[in-house]
Amino acid sequence: MKAISIGLLGLGTVGSGVVQIIENHQDKLMHQIGCPVKIKKILVKNLQKDRGVIVNKSMLTDSADDILDDPEIDVVIEVMGGVEETRNYLLRAVRNKKHVVTANKDLMALHGPELLAEATRNNCDLFYEASVAGGIPILRGLVDGLASDRITKMMGIVNGTTNFILTKMSKFGSPYAEVLKEAQELGYAESDPTADVEGLDAARKMAILATLGFSMNIDLADVSVKGITSITEEDLVYSKRLGYTIKLIGIADRVGEKVEVSVQPTLLSESHPLAGVNDEYNAVYVYGEAVGETMFYGPGAGSLPTATSIVSDLVAVMKNMRLGVNGRSAAAPQYEKILKSDEEILSKYFLRLHVKDELGVFASITTLFSQHKISFEKIMQLPLKDKDQSEIVLVTHKASKKDLEDVLQKLRDNELVHDVKSTYRVEGDEA
Ligand code: NAP
Ligand code: HSE
Repeated sequence: MKAISIGLLGLGTVGSGVVQIIENHQDKLMHQIGCPVKIKKILVKNLQKDRGVIVNKSMLTDSADDILDDPEIDVVIEVMGGVEETRNYLLRAVRNKKHVVTANKDLMALHGPELLAEATRNNCDLFYEASVAGGIPILRGLVDGLASDRITKMMGIVNGTTNFILTKMSKFGSPYAEVLKEAQELGYAESDPTADVEGLDAARKMAILATLGFSMNIDLADVSVKGITSITEEDLVYSKRLGYTIKLIGIADRVGEKVEVSVQPTLLSESHPLAGVNDEYNAVYVYGEAVGETMFYGPGAGSLPTATSIVSDLVAVMKNMRLGVNGRSAAAPQYEKILKSDEEILSKYFLRLHVKDELGVFASITTLFSQHKISFEKIMQLPLKDKDQSEIVLVTHKASKKDLEDVLQKLRDNELVHDVKSTYRVEGDEA
């Protein structure tokens, strides 16, 4: 029985996991697909590097041609990262009739529609389960598990690195730089962790989730993004005091036909199931009109969890090969994209202000908010070390993004306000 032949692009954190799972699970793979699976060639950048996994050195190459032009290779697994060079490799792979499995969210968020269309034209599969939330089968959950429902909202912790950092900072008071380094050493962070901490990695994943969940083409440019770098110790302390935990949350929300997609540090009610998702774990909370609320939870980064999703995609490709139905599973988006305006994006907000400590300031601030029809759910004024200043911490009722931004501008222009220290969206405690 002819073995299925794999070309692996990349042998880093995820690539090593793929090698291990394919080796250790041969029996299970054989049982599921009826033939052995063999990795034939592996593309790396540096042929001299000492590798953590045992692979025969003759399998390694630094030329992608050895994989893309080899007619014996049936499936290309891409775990090298990067965008432009990788896009060209994958286009070449499907044009050479090779099925593709990738973990690359940067690539799929930017060029997914083009790559999927080219794969379909060439009767090839292109699967990318590992690109969102590592080991959680969330893409199949949306596309297959919830195929019969209309999804209205997804809230996700979809970046393992930032969740790891925020967990350690809020539970143990660990310093940001130290925990980031730890996340890098554990293989959770991207090679340049800026994409993690600035929210871009999560934004790419939310664009992929929203595209599949809402069946419309959501581009990366449609996602508003804010990362975790400006979160302070004071923010963590106040959020805890008020019954919240700060998480980097991706939100994809649909009201009628209009959608918003965003990523930002968010104060999440401690009673919300996402608040208990810690360390490198990820979770996506999905609201469906018929099913109600569901949550997909699991490890969001790391070698073996991510490789599990990749090898499951490989099994799906091979089952399709056996049935002769490759290249038919990528349904084109059904709906036209209509984005909500800032007037239509509604949320509760947490604000922390430093103001002059004198008679009438509190009243003047509350008047400013009421002029924009923003009312408070919680508000407190506290003394600061500097006797001339005090701190106002408040949580609003739901307000539009536009009204909130107008108020923020007026606060910044107001001579009674020294500084708007922080502003966060608040989620998860709707009555
Ligand atoms: P990594 O540890 O940096 O490994 C990258 C591998 O690709 C290395 O083996 C490297 O070769 C090779 N490579 C990179 N650029 C190359 C080039 N231009 N030509 C040839 N080989 C090249 O990265 P990773 O963490 O495994 O991540 C791989 C992909 O999976 C990325 O798209 C990432 O976003 C995604 N992903 C990662 C995780 C995670 O937890 N790490 C989870 C989900 C998705 P050398 O070994 O010779 O340097
Ligand atoms: N850097 C990513 C994260 C890897 O921390 O979530 C998984 O996509």
